[in-house]
Amino acid sequence: MNKFPQPTLGSTFPEKFVWGVATSAFQIEGAAFADGKGPSIWDDFCKQPGAIADGSDGLLACEHYQRWQDDLDLVASLGVDAYRFSVSWPRVRPGGAGAWNEKGLDFYERLVDGLLARGIKPYLTLNHWDLPSELQATGGWTDRNTVHRFVEYAQGIDRRMGDRLATITTHNEPWVMSVLGYEQGIFAPGIKSRAAAMQASHHLMLSHGLALQALRAQGSKARLGIVLNLSPVQAATDSDADQAQAHLEDGKLLRWYMDPLFKGHYPEDVIGHLGADAPVLHTGDLAAIATPMDFMGVNYYSRSVASANGPWDTRQSGHPLTEMGWEVYPEGLTELLVRMHTDYPVPPLYVTENGGAFKDLVQDGQVHDADRTDYIARHIEAVAQAMRQGVRMEGYMVWSLLDNFEWASGYAKRFGIVHVDYATQKRTLKDSAHWYSNMLHARKGRA
Ligand code: NOJ
Repeated sequence: MNKFPQPTLGSTFPEKFVWGVATSAFQIEGAAFADGKGPSIWDDFCKQPGAIADGSDGLLACEHYQRWQDDLDLVASLGVDAYRFSVSWPRVRPGGAGAWNEKGLDFYERLVDGLLARGIKPYLTLNHWDLPSELQATGGWTDRNTVHRFVEYAQGIDRRMGDRLATITTHNEPWVMSVLGYEQGIFAPGIKSRAAAMQASHHLMLSHGLALQALRAQGSKARLGIVLNLSPVQAATDSDADQAQAHLEDGKLLRWYMDPLFKGHYPEDVIGHLGADAPVLHTGDLAAIATPMDFMGVNYYSRSVASANGPWDTRQSGHPLTEMGWEVYPEGLTELLVRMHTDYPVPPLYVTENGGAFKDLVQDGQVHDADRTDYIARHIEAVAQAMRQGVRMEGYMVWSLLDNFEWASGYAKRFGIVHVDYATQKRTLKDSAHWYSNMLHARKGRA
């Protein structure tokens, strides 16, 4: 396995740099209605004909709800420092408001304690998309009421287990939830309205800020932050039209979130572009969104290319593509991290997700995935590059620990460094997992 670059962990990455793997509740847990769990918008969305490419759902997924102890042993065997996971809100508070579900809270408390017992830091995400269905009945994230229910949810989780968490992330990828969920309608809740999407986006950001304030007020011991999906947006050509398109797309993807978080306002050009679809703000909302964070996560998969002639086809890029059709473009990660550090007063950064869907070769009990190993190695090197240019990085996490439910793509797209045979639920470390783990164990050996 020496053909892949071995990042120079010793020199660039400090001893305390956090290496991890990531998952999310809906994508791995299954047990969709066990032990008092309520339905989420993703349980509902999967029932819509045509919504999921392979017609699948999250009823069983990786059966992590039953197999969590073995899965944590697997995490520990990799030699990682941290495990990033999410709590299913409807598992702990089935209706989004009202009664809490003790069995659900117990599950996550056992998970956190199980991680600590194995020497792994818990990185908990509150909202990785599975909103309780009852809250969708009143408009989901378009309803300002949801903001206050989210703050209560955050407080409840922190009261129960916040003393044992390394970090609490409020939201995972607000852009995806709002734009894919409420504007394009290809993710739950499947709504197609730009005005709804922008209002949902604003409420997600507002609830992030208010949750931070509420958690600090109750003395939370966890470090608090948010996770954004970001990419550098490059113009397809240097024509004025393509440059202008790139600036607008950068505004909608990156500045729309980074400006309110760090500068206290939404970008004027995007507000102008949205016209009547711009969100309704109340006095004080922007100040709440700008509440300082302790850390921030970025999920990076590829760059984005903007063209005034409509969507840009990645097949013309000349770069290798993943099974999702996404370009493999590690230098974009360096560019992005340096830009965040240069343009904004960011707290310490993490790459909270990075990885790829590739075709795996399952052979004689082994799973060969050279493309994935190469992808991960090159992106770790891209993080090192950013650090050498002065970016304060604290950690890197691979998406994902396990093959899992890849949302609208169902189970056909595999991002795991551990293969899951869905017929038997057998887990097999892929070559990429061996590579990652060898690197981490070698580093520990040096320590
Ligand atoms: C980002 C999301 O957070 C995660 O849930 C998803 O599986 C990966 N991207 C890959 O698409």
